[in-house]
Amino acid sequence: MDSSDVQDDLEHVLYTKDQIQQKIAELAAEIDRDYAGRDILLVGVLKGAVMVVADIARALHSHVAMDWMAVSSYGSGTQSSGVVRILKDLDTDLTGKHVLIVEDIIDSGLTLSWLKSNLASRGPASIEICTLLRKPDAAKVELPVKYVGFDIPNEFVIGYGLDFAEKYRNLDFIGTLAPHVYQ
Ligand code: XMP
Ligand code: MG
Repeated sequence: MDSSDVQDDLEHVLYTKDQIQQKIAELAAEIDRDYAGRDILLVGVLKGAVMVVADIARALHSHVAMDWMAVSSYGSGTQSSGVVRILKDLDTDLTGKHVLIVEDIIDSGLTLSWLKSNLASRGPASIEICTLLRKPDAAKVELPVKYVGFDIPNEFVIGYGLDFAEKYRNLDFIGTLAPHVYQ
């Protein structure tokens, strides 16, 4: 879907398809340089990271394996609490692997902070994080993130994997919703 399909639901477009794809190419080039000669295990966090993983994986020249995790973050309403439950674990043994966690968005950072220490305890050779979007103003924990696409304002965004009530994940751009959609 593109912006003409959801015109009435949109407030504004934050990043176009071209801007996203350009950024994915830049991130992939950086990752290729850093991991030269090493195989990477991309760990995608379902469901939001599906588009980022698919596009980054295809932009990389490095050999990658892909695996997926689904987690739910307990908390009141839309606020992440940092108490995380694993809904689907990895199939892969991480021992000696170069793990790159790929996320769509880092908000408070609580989910990923928990996930990183969980995966780090499984004996990988290295573990880093790549996220397309980050909301610096929402950060609740200090979380070193090696690869960041865009730092964005603290507003709710949809598209390119990101949803509102499971809708809009298949937009090829990232935008904000018009208030009438969520009010
Ligand atoms: P924390 O706060 O633990 O949570 O970093 C990260 C998760 O929260 C969701 N999230 C969003 N989803 N638009 C979305 O569609 C947003 O603007 C947004 N902000 C946070 C998302 O699932 C992410 O993995
Ligand atoms: Mg997510």
